[in-house]
Amino acid sequence: MTDMETLDEVASRVRACTDCPLSRGRTNAVPGEGPADSAIMFIGEGPGYQEDRQGRPFVGPAGKFLEELLKSIGYSREEVYIANMVKCRPANNRDPLPSEIEACSKYLDRQIELIRPKLVVTLGRFSMSKFLPGESISRVHGKPRNVNGLTIFPIMHPAAALHRQENRKTIEDDFNAIPALLKQPAPEPIVELTETPKPEQLSMF
Ligand code: URA
Ligand code: SF4
Repeated sequence: MTDMETLDEVASRVRACTDCPLSRGRTNAVPGEGPADSAIMFIGEGPGYQEDRQGRPFVGPAGKFLEELLKSIGYSREEVYIANMVKCRPANNRDPLPSEIEACSKYLDRQIELIRPKLVVTLGRFSMSKFLPGESISRVHGKPRNVNGLTIFPIMHPAAALHRQENRKTIEDDFNAIPALLKQPAPEPIVELTETPKPEQLSMF
C-alpha cells in the first residue's frame, strides 16, 4: 500500500478501499479531481448515480449547475478541486452515516493537506458539519470562517438549489463572494486537521 504522498496515491487507496460498507454498493469509487495546486476546493456530500457510474465527482445535474455557477465567477471545473465527504455512493442517495463519514475522513483530510487550498467551499450540510459541527446551513451559509488555519466558506448544496428559485438566488449570491475571498492573504500552513498540535507545532507565546 502506498502512503498517500500524492493525490494519485490517495485516489489509488480510495479505489481499493473496503473500510466501510459503502464499498460493497459501489460501481466506481469517486476520489475527487482537480489540480494539486488549486486555490479553491469544493467538498460535496457523496457520489450520486452518475458519479458512481463514471467515477468522477459532480457529473450529474448538480454538477451541471455547479459548472454554471463556476462560470459565472470566471472559473471552469478543471481549475478547481472537487471532492466529497464519502467517496462511495450510498444506496438510493441516502445520507451517509456518521460511521461512514468517519471511516472515509482520512482521505479527504489528506487531500486537504496536500492541496492546501486558499478557500474550502463546503456544499451542503454534511461538509459544513465537518468544520462547523452543530451549526445549521441556513444560519452560516455565505459567511467565511477560519477553522484550523483554513478559510471555510459554507454554501448550500447545488442539488438543493437547482429547482427552487429562492435557493438559487441564495447560492448565486454566495458564489459571487468567492473571488473577493480568494484575494485575501493565504492562511497559515495547516498542521493536522484531526489531531491536537504537537508542542513543537505551537507558536512560541
Ligand atoms: N452530489 C454530491 O454531493 N457530490 C457529487 O459528487 C455529486 C452530487
Ligand atoms: Fe472506503 Fe470511503 Fe469508500 Fe467507505 S466510502 S469504502 S471509507 S473509500
